[in-house]
Amino acid sequence: MSCPFHTPAPSYCSTAPVSLAQYPHESWLFGGARDVARNALEFFERCEQTAGIVRTRFLVKRVYVVTDPAAIADVLVNHPKSFVKPYVLRRMKVLFGNGLLTSSGEQWANHRHLVQPAFGAECMTGFLRLVRESTEEMLSSWCVGDRCVRESCDGETRDGDVRDGDVRDVYPEIVDLCMKNVAQTMFGVYDEEMGSIVRALAATCHDLAHAVLNVGQALPFHLPGRLKRRLKSELGALNDYLGRLIDQRRNDQRRIDQRRNEPPRRDFLGLLLSGGLSRQAVLDESVTMLLAGHETTASALAWSLYLLARHPKHADALAADLESHLHGDAPSMSDLEDLTSLRATLDETLRLYPPTHRIGRTVVSPVVIGGHKIPVGADVLVPQWAVHRSARWYDRPLDFLPERWTPAFRRSLPKFAYFPFSGGPRICVGTQLAYSEVAVILGLLAQRFRYSLCDEMLLVPYEGLTLLPAGGHLRLKLKRRSMTPAAPNHAAPNHAAQAVYS
Ligand code: HEM
Repeated sequence: MSCPFHTPAPSYCSTAPVSLAQYPHESWLFGGARDVARNALEFFERCEQTAGIVRTRFLVKRVYVVTDPAAIADVLVNHPKSFVKPYVLRRMKVLFGNGLLTSSGEQWANHRHLVQPAFGAECMTGFLRLVRESTEEMLSSWCVGDRCVRESCDGETRDGDVRDGDVRDVYPEIVDLCMKNVAQTMFGVYDEEMGSIVRALAATCHDLAHAVLNVGQALPFHLPGRLKRRLKSELGALNDYLGRLIDQRRNDQRRIDQRRNEPPRRDFLGLLLSGGLSRQAVLDESVTMLLAGHETTASALAWSLYLLARHPKHADALAADLESHLHGDAPSMSDLEDLTSLRATLDETLRLYPPTHRIGRTVVSPVVIGGHKIPVGADVLVPQWAVHRSARWYDRPLDFLPERWTPAFRRSLPKFAYFPFSGGPRICVGTQLAYSEVAVILGLLAQRFRYSLCDEMLLVPYEGLTLLPAGGHLRLKLKRRSMTPAAPNHAAPNHAAQAVYS
């Protein structure tokens, strides 16, 4: 089954050569690297406004920034074997080892094939139930009972029921929620020990990604000593934890084999263990999945809430539409197809704030992109951030306009003018899972509260592993929405909600 939200766009092949130009603000010594270090997002926007393919260098490294959809299709879909993951991402192997995100070639293809069933349609119903329950649990800690810690805009905290105008820093809670969902689905467990290890590792991972991506990409890279020590101790803790989990699973499996009356578990960990991988390979794939599987969805949710807070009229219309379909409940798989306002809100969020805001590749065999020969050894960067904000494809490109996502607009858009999950063989393995998870969580959060910003300051994106709110905080004022009682077909027990709204 395909993603309920994903309308396949027409395939897009390049015919006429795409425009190619030199980066206009090249420094004689650093090339484009100085501008990247200053503000990479602006650098990509400048490239997009210059030509479909922009040639530059980062010191001595040849770099091509590709923003034309036809040329992007050449990179991601038409010639994927001419590329490997770029040098900067290969530096991330200190953290991800040879996991799916960083590996290439035969090992990548075998591992991807092995774990694919963990993302299949048959897992979705159980996954969405889990997402709904964990979101209700988070919401109940926000506003049920008399022990909620509250803040006011001036930062003062006090205990008691949530009152209108109370403030919560929602970002860390959303990160925890997404981490819990991915851990329970992929590994069958989540406890506070795992939570605190992954939380610390994720913070280090963002700093590592920021250092690797932005500080002189072509310079010989030495991991700062402080970061190295943090990484070593956190990876050690996660490896110990996962090692115990793997041993326990293997013992369980032996018992199941002896009894011969139960099928082995087919979650992500079960599939890895059934594939005869080395212990290190299992650990690498596990670290990759834990981090890639929750930081991305948390980023999408944080930016959605931020945009809803800045656009209260749209937030009200969305809440009314959701409530008329769901009556306060979470969307099911079949609901997702009908909820066009939710889909449009998510698409518009992922357009303006793509959690993975650029894709990189290194050329390993001669290749033609958009009609131009690109030399072996060059890096190719494909920035969703700049393509999604291009005036070539979007009217009022910087405005939050979910209503632009009509069926006709979707059909008219070239495939790689919008690609938050990438495309081709390296398309995000978690696309369907991620989209549905974000929809269920946002579907609940949008119906329960009206959000507003503490002040009118614009939130600055920070380029870590994902595009996250700078400082790792999103402090929002909450105001409860009144709800109508659930209709019979959505009247399944919803205890947390009943407690909140009774
Ligand atoms: C809104 C949420 C998400 C977004 C925007 C997103 C985006 C992406 C993108 C753009 C890539 C391709 C990177 C490249 O080509 O270099 C990717 C790859 C990947 N994603 Fe996601 N992702 C999301 C959620 C998830 C989730 C929930 C999981 C797992 C549970 C996941 C696991 C992965 C993995 C393992 C890869 C590497 C795939 C491969 O190369 O075979 N992602 N993601």
